[in-house]
Amino acid sequence: MCGIVGFIGDEPAAPVVLKALIKLEYRGYDSAGMVSICDGKIHFRKDAGKITDVQRKHRLDRLPGKIAVGHVRWATHGRADRINAHPHFDCKKQIAVVHNGIIENYQELRAALVGKHRFASEVDTEVICHLIEDYMEAGASLEKALLKAVGELRGSYALVVVSSREPEKIVATSKDSPLIVGLDDGKYFVASDALSFLDRTNEVVFLEEGELVSLTRDGAFFLNREGEEIRKKSQRVDWQWEEASKKGYDFFMLKEILEQPEAMRRALIQDRKLIMEFAKEIWEARRVVITACGTSRHVALLASYLFSRLAGKLCDVVTASEFQYFCDSIAEDTLVIAISQSGETADVIEGVKRAKAKGARVFSIINVVGSLLTRISDRAIYLNCGPEIGVAATKSFLCQLVIFYMLAFALMGKLEEGIEKLEQVARQIGDNLNDEKLKKLARRMKNKNNFYYMARGLNLAIAAEGALKLKEISYIHAECMPAGELKHGTLALIEEGTPVVAICPKDDTFYETLNNVMEIKARGGFVIGVSDENNEVYDHWIKIPKMEEIFYPLVAIMPLQLLAYHLAAARGKDPDRPRHLAKSVTVK
Ligand code: F6R
Repeated sequence: MCGIVGFIGDEPAAPVVLKALIKLEYRGYDSAGMVSICDGKIHFRKDAGKITDVQRKHRLDRLPGKIAVGHVRWATHGRADRINAHPHFDCKKQIAVVHNGIIENYQELRAALVGKHRFASEVDTEVICHLIEDYMEAGASLEKALLKAVGELRGSYALVVVSSREPEKIVATSKDSPLIVGLDDGKYFVASDALSFLDRTNEVVFLEEGELVSLTRDGAFFLNREGEEIRKKSQRVDWQWEEASKKGYDFFMLKEILEQPEAMRRALIQDRKLIMEFAKEIWEARRVVITACGTSRHVALLASYLFSRLAGKLCDVVTASEFQYFCDSIAEDTLVIAISQSGETADVIEGVKRAKAKGARVFSIINVVGSLLTRISDRAIYLNCGPEIGVAATKSFLCQLVIFYMLAFALMGKLEEGIEKLEQVARQIGDNLNDEKLKKLARRMKNKNNFYYMARGLNLAIAAEGALKLKEISYIHAECMPAGELKHGTLALIEEGTPVVAICPKDDTFYETLNNVMEIKARGGFVIGVSDENNEVYDHWIKIPKMEEIFYPLVAIMPLQLLAYHLAAARGKDPDRPRHLAKSVTVK
């Protein structure tokens, strides 16, 4: 949450920052702002709303100077209004700070500072401005003042700071929130995501926890937390910005749903040796715990069924935000598998750190190259499916599943056979998809306020994911449950016309799920059956291709993603910018 871009170079900086910031809109769209330095003075504009709206209203790109820093906000502390928009300032408006993260002890800090300093906003960030102010007043350089200020903070932060007192530089530091430096021949970027500046440079340096970078026109200088200069190696990021454009689709989400066959093929291109070694450690670990949040957690759920079914290996799934409450049973013989598209979800990072502190090995499955999670894991597998910009996860879900299918086959000693089969599935996942029919169904269902999703076995995670997609982008209440659980209470909520999506392919779950479908039908529910075979009990049939039964989850998800997408569209909602959700959730 929150996106940051800073740029220093020999050209007007504001247009460069604006262009980069627009690419980070997925990180927050509550407010936007920019600060620049010109002739030793600070200039800034900010307001509530999406970056494009704030630009239209305030022409951020007209801020003068060759140094600028911008911010898009996903609100945590304080309302999503102009006052709380970033940048924030010290009392004399000589120091400007933008921040991604949460300062946990800001109330204590604020109480200590409030007598001496004038606070203009409600946000936690502002305490940092005043702390830097105090240290600079006492004679510290901007770099030293920032290092001293962060020494007083508890929480997570990516901080980018400029000051009219030292007007020729941008200074940045981070802890548990990403910051990446881009090097472009005398021009320098610092941003929350390299994607924002990849059209200018692929050469990057990842800032590690506690490190600070000072960007001047003479170069990027790195300091450790003690303020000593350190050398850091740059690396190349292979992603191309073009991969993250809409390519003619109205929304990123639709583009990303439809490119899944290709994404799946890319995910299958993996280092076989790495997969085998990963599988070997899974096999040998006394306990395996899979941890993740949201959509990635649904992958964990399916993975646990898959490992059990194909390899007889029992694993626990622990929601990352609950991980700390299970830490007592994590030990050196535990293998923790963390799944995260962004590789920066705060709950996942926190869980992994706790697991490592207990001596556990940590493997990760990640999409964003070089992300924080990669750097704190013992091993990582990348999805290789390209950037996912739509806030609702779609192709990353499928590709995470693909990695677990590969691992499950590797556990059986049948990796090659598995890959061949999965390549065949990739050719079939779009088969029988009738988008027009889904659109029609969405129009018919758009005024319903409650949906239920049900399935058994491997398909349960698909039902859960279908429900989450619907909730997050259409704002319709949706609940998923194991089909057999319905009779333990939830049936009470089924009334005439209540939509129930049943994932019911012709696999080992078929007959039992169908029985549960009958129970729904008997209470007047409107049954949407997702299956390779039609059945008279369905009010609407979503046809999926016939498969070897373990692969049904891979072909059942796409129509559910599309259904959610069309329902959001039918209700006039923007699926790329769902309310109260950001692409990377860097707060706990
Ligand atoms: C849902 C969604 C979120 C994420 C969750 C974890 O569509 O996008 O639920 O799945 O925030 O994110 P990652 O996978 O980046 O850790």
